[in-house]
Amino acid sequence: MKSLIDILDFTVEELQELIDTANDIIEHPAAYSERCRGKKLATLFFEPSTRTRLSFEAAMYELGGNVIGFSEAASSSAAKGESVADTAKVISCYADIIAMRHPKEGAPLVAAMNASIPVINAGDGGHNHPTQTLADLLTIYREKGGFENLTVGFCGDLKFGRTVHSLINALSRYAGVRVVLISPEELKLPSYVKKDVLAAKGVPYEQTTDLESVMPRLDILYMTRVQRERFFNEEDYLRLKDSYILTPEKLKNAKAELCIMHPLPRVNEISVAVDDDPRACYFKQVLYGKYMRMALILKLLKEAGTL
Ligand code: NCD
Repeated sequence: MKSLIDILDFTVEELQELIDTANDIIEHPAAYSERCRGKKLATLFFEPSTRTRLSFEAAMYELGGNVIGFSEAASSSAAKGESVADTAKVISCYADIIAMRHPKEGAPLVAAMNASIPVINAGDGGHNHPTQTLADLLTIYREKGGFENLTVGFCGDLKFGRTVHSLINALSRYAGVRVVLISPEELKLPSYVKKDVLAAKGVPYEQTTDLESVMPRLDILYMTRVQRERFFNEEDYLRLKDSYILTPEKLKNAKAELCIMHPLPRVNEISVAVDDDPRACYFKQVLYGKYMRMALILKLLKEAGTL
């Protein structure tokens, strides 16, 4: 059964196929409005989310399908002590596809190993977030026309930011990509990502604490929120939370065609004064996420033989 747990579960060709489908959906939404009639998506969210869960729900509704599920662990049988493996087996009897978010790294993988329907990882702890990466890839593709030869800056909480880990994995497969890692010392990209992804794939990268000094070279600036919920103590969070605040002033030396991205929710990392800048792409990114989730649901249901 094909699931999406890690962005590397898809080849570069499969990612392009999803991008092509999403672009087609954007152009011909009516042609897709009945594709999932009678099918059910189960959204199993053991950790709070607004955007990702509602994006999945909107995606399934726009395909003509239905949605069941829960939005917090307290309202599921997990509160009674049920294992993720059992939950996956049970939900397989009710739905055609699962989207799962869980605070524990690896939980969606366990679900996929036990479910008889496709499972989509909608975020597992500080680990991965492959469907955000799908949104990010469509944004980059539509803004830049492709992925080759881009210099991509990641700024903020690179330690706990799962969207960063997944997107770096995805981009490491395209030729000529260069990565600039901008973070406080304490929130640097984990060494397993540097070693197993960037170094292993030969992606040139550099690390800095200073956003403004690298700004002129960036084609993409991926801002992130400091992940409060993954900190061990509040003092550290308070000290680090406003490490980077993007303002129009700081964009003065940026390229005219820079693409500014953010997976959202935004806290303080991007001043609202930047929102009117034509280089701000983060709200488009949200919309693209819905189209990519539609393309993903279609692909996985087809591969499962359900459609
Ligand atoms: C991200 C996440 O959940 O990791 N949000 C999202 O899904 N768009 C980023 C974040 O929470 O900071």
